[in-house]
Amino acid sequence: MARLEDLVADFLHELSIKVEDKWVALTLDHISRESRNHAQLLKDMCRAAGINERVDDEQCKSFIGEIGYEAIFHYKDIIARLRGGWTPGREELIEILREELNVEKMAGEEAYMKIVAGVMPAICEERLVIMLFKELSAEEEHHSSLLKAIIRKLEESVSEKSVQKV
Ligand SMILES: [Fe+2]
Ligand SMILES: [Fe+2]
Repeated sequence: MARLEDLVADFLHELSIKVEDKWVALTLDHISRESRNHAQLLKDMCRAAGINERVDDEQCKSFIGEIGYEAIFHYKDIIARLRGGWTPGREELIEILREELNVEKMAGEEAYMKIVAGVMPAICEERLVIMLFKELSAEEEHHSSLLKAIIRKLEESVSEKSVQKV
């Protein structure tokens, strides 16, 4: 999960560099920093619980599910393309952000708690851990709202452009 959050952070940061609209760029970078923070918190929790945060691919798949596992490769691919000089067009950008929205929706409190129950059952009872996961999932929900607003803004500018052309 920390691996996924780190990749999301890289992906959103790389994307923010390529985006023309300065408010969209700023918002994407903000979500990127929060994802980095989530990754750090998850790693720290593993350390505090005394478990190895490094898991192999099979374990990873069983914790985050098939969709999450596939998302890892998807992110790696997009990050490599962005770093390789690719700048997505507006339509492509909207498409990429829609996909990201689906991943954000997956990362609710239930999903986090399920993973914790699988990896570190001993800390599930810890009140502070439960509160921290509540905060994480509230932030994920807000990420979804921000992404929806970004997509809407980009879509509006697409339709404005096509109106201008006519
Ligand atoms: Fe996150
Ligand atoms: Fe998120």
